[in-house]
Amino acid sequence: MKNVTEQLTAEHRNILRVIDEVLEECQRLECGGTLNPEFIEHTIDFIRNYADRYHHAKEEKILFEAMLENQDCLHCNPIPVMLHEHEESRSFVRNMEKALQEKDVPAVIANAHNYCRLLQGHIYKEDHILYPMAEEALDDSQKETVLQRYREADSKTLTVETVKGYETLFAN
Ligand SMILES: [Fe+2]
Ligand SMILES: [Fe+2]
Repeated sequence: MKNVTEQLTAEHRNILRVIDEVLEECQRLECGGTLNPEFIEHTIDFIRNYADRYHHAKEEKILFEAMLENQDCLHCNPIPVMLHEHEESRSFVRNMEKALQEKDVPAVIANAHNYCRLLQGHIYKEDHILYPMAEEALDDSQKETVLQRYREADSKTLTVETVKGYETLFAN
């Protein structure tokens, strides 16, 4: 049986690792530490390019689409909530960027915090509810199509080296 969520789950682990670093940075700032604009810029870049353009895009344009074609998923469809949370996460990032430009540290902390908490819950729901539902609902030939489309999307979105860079961000 093919698996269409293994890669996405591995991407979640990379996103959660960066989120832990960001929450630690928030704590440092809350204790009176000075703002490190570079750290926040790297965080925003990671969220926009890796978490959103690379990861969320595969969910929205490929996996969720495939699930919606399948009647089994429609009786308790969690996809609109997932899409809404993606949108909400984008607005926290826009606010984080604005707060950084204005050097408004409490707003940087609040928006970074909101983003991290939202994504932790979002990823939990995907890993435990939505992804198992996808594995259950799609047959092998639909899964093959999804996997093929992931490969096409990945090759157009980021280079292998860039992905590696994001996957080791803040790692040392
Ligand atoms: Fe998602
Ligand atoms: Fe996800």
